Amino acid sequence: MTVPQPQSRKAPHHVPTVPHALADEIRPGQSLELLKELHILTRDGKLNQDSRRKLKQVNHLCQFIEKLLHELAKQQPPNANANANTITLADHGAGKSYLGFILYDLFFRQHSESHIYGIETRAELVQKSCNLATRLNFDRMTFLNLTVAQSAQSTACPDRIDLVTALHACDTATDDAIAFGLQKHARFMVLVPCCQAEVARLLNQNKAKSLSGTPLSELWRHPLHTREMGSHLTNVLRCLYLQACGYHVCVTELVGWEHSLKNELIVARYTGQHHRSAADRLRVLLAEFGLMPLLHTRFTALIDNAAHVGVSTCE
Ligand SMILES: C[S@@+](CC[C@H](N)C(=O)[O-])C[C@H]1O[C@@H](n2cnc3c(N)ncnc32)[C@H](O)[C@@H]1O
Repeated sequence: MTVPQPQSRKAPHHVPTVPHALADEIRPGQSLELLKELHILTRDGKLNQDSRRKLKQVNHLCQFIEKLLHELAKQQPPNANANANTITLADHGAGKSYLGFILYDLFFRQHSESHIYGIETRAELVQKSCNLATRLNFDRMTFLNLTVAQSAQSTACPDRIDLVTALHACDTATDDAIAFGLQKHARFMVLVPCCQAEVARLLNQNKAKSLSGTPLSELWRHPLHTREMGSHLTNVLRCLYLQACGYHVCVTELVGWEHSLKNELIVARYTGQHHRSAADRLRVLLAEFGLMPLLHTRFTALIDNAAHVGVSTCE
């Protein structure tokens, strides 16, 4: 038995029907050919246990991001000017670009002016993604063999990127993705941070001093706690920074990623309301935890826009 696919979605490599056994997992209109190319489906179109879970996870995240994309599409006045329909998405630490490819298949394919940029440091993955995009005629996908930080300076990326994603981008790549999003005036940032060592390193450096301070410093006396505390604190600081820079922030769990310890989903939506209190609290936390050097590396907008942050507030 097969489940019909919508007639309107034409594309080379598009398989018109979904076998009944896959109907619960495959989204209507989703390209089976793409899923085979991504090795989510086997060559004979089957799902094994691992890939079933992977597909569920990626589809779940895509559904969530698609809602934001539809919101962006509604906000863009059609035909008002040459770029009006353009929706741009940059996926940082793209890896094999599962996320980008599936989003392209489900959304970007039908939005003819829109474009996905995949940023990845591993040249072989970038090359594979380029080849796959060519094979599938996904011609509005660009893959850049750059670090996140380099991509912010690259002319290959447009000045405006509407939506920034960073899914398990390693270590400080999430911080670079936030800096990228701020520079590109992103309307949304969807971040699932990976482990981050920078803050834990600084906590370690100042341990002797901190542990003679308040009892709260007991929270990071033991190395394992230093790491966990560093990771948690990192995400708290990131959220405050985004709020200080005019974003509304929602922190939740990435459902379906229970097997991963790193399943914190941070969704930032630009509102233009700069939280004075978030900026103040961020500074206090940096001072309390001996992290002030980060003000000049990670949280530079607080210095650059010192006059601006706190002009308008919301709580
Ligand atoms: C854990 S993988 C995640 C891949 C993909 N986002 C996913 O969830 O399937 C992290 C990827 O980020 C890349 N990466 C790490 N640091 C990076 C940086 N600074 N700039 C760009 N890519 C980076 C790595 O090469 C790796 O492919």
